[in-house]
Amino acid sequence: MYMWKLILVVFSLALAFRLAESFDYDERDLASEESLWDLYERWRSHHTVSCDMKEKQKRFNVFKENLKHIHNVNQMDRPYKLELNKFADMTNYEFMNTRSSKISHYRMLRGPRRTTDFRHGGVDSLPHSIDWRKKGAVTGIKDQGKCGSCWAFSTVVAVEGVNKIKTGELVNLSEQELVDCNKENQGCDGGLMEQAFEFIKQSDGLTTEKNYPYEAKDESCNSSKMNSPVVIIDGYEMVPEKDEKSLMKAVAKQPVSIAIDAGGKDFQFYSEGVFTGDCGTELNHGVAVVGYGATHDGTKYWIVKNSWGEDWGEKGYIRMQRDIGAREGLCGLTLEASYPIKLHSDNVKKASQKDEL
Ligand SMILES: *[C@@H]1O[C@H](CO)[C@@H](O)[C@H](O)[C@H]1NC(C)=O
Ligand SMILES: *[C@@H]1O[C@H](CO)[C@@H](O)[C@H](O)[C@H]1NC(C)=O
Repeated sequence: MYMWKLILVVFSLALAFRLAESFDYDERDLASEESLWDLYERWRSHHTVSCDMKEKQKRFNVFKENLKHIHNVNQMDRPYKLELNKFADMTNYEFMNTRSSKISHYRMLRGPRRTTDFRHGGVDSLPHSIDWRKKGAVTGIKDQGKCGSCWAFSTVVAVEGVNKIKTGELVNLSEQELVDCNKENQGCDGGLMEQAFEFIKQSDGLTTEKNYPYEAKDESCNSSKMNSPVVIIDGYEMVPEKDEKSLMKAVAKQPVSIAIDAGGKDFQFYSEGVFTGDCGTELNHGVAVVGYGATHDGTKYWIVKNSWGEDWGEKGYIRMQRDIGAREGLCGLTLEASYPIKLHSDNVKKASQKDEL
């Protein structure tokens, strides 16, 4: 008897927790315009959305459209689900406008992708799965806010990862230093991860999140904050493009920065499961692969760390389908993969390295 009570308590606690963290609706909410308004009001207070009254009717209309899409997709037999998350009153166009990073655009401006050495190319026995989070090489989920700085977040995940692997220490690093000081990139207007790696190498390291905290807007570069303490890297390499096997080899060794096409409502409202599309290959978002694996039924996936807060997707992560048979990978994820190189197990600039500069 006692056991049953205990189980019941644990179960209801789990349920309460689930209710507290995600927002849900049922068929009754969809029945009439009135119940939809009620649902909208509940959603607004859940996500503490405020907007002026003139906007409200317009926002409600967008909300209804999004709800229709979410509901339709969730009725289909897809391996992933969508939810009414905090972005539910934004059109996909508005959403992408405030956070996308125009990576394809900068690639065109900067010229074709370099080819570099690929030091992980020789790896031949790949683990079936790997999760760098379990190895303590990934910091908590961050939130870029309304700023197209995802390239900086993507870069930082990979640098935090290689630093942990080389030094044994997980250090929370600064995106804002990249946004403000990396002039080859465009701050909240976007950028390329390889230019950020190059900047970190050239400027003798990247400082900590604590020392140079994130502001979600373009500020002028504070060079006194920039200078210490820092994590040093020695350069970066590109993963050969259009090849998921090469990406696997790299991810088996360290977290890897990638670019994807995150346009599309399914990405905006992704909740859980293995994401299988819809998306194109117009790269507009920087994220990072921190592992790979397969579900019980054999669906293979990449574990991707996003920077839209913990309340998006699977606690801030998305699992994206792997081995899809198209060389560019799902949403173009094999097209812009790169990672930083760190040769030494400390963050002290070596005299010999200084001479080279
Ligand atoms: C790192 O910094 C972010 C953003 O300031 C913060 O939310 C997080 O708690 C910090 N720590 C870790 C270990 O991620
Ligand atoms: C730069 O950072 C230092 C150290 O945090 C601070 O004292 C100073 O006011 C900052 N300078 C500007 C121009 O914001």
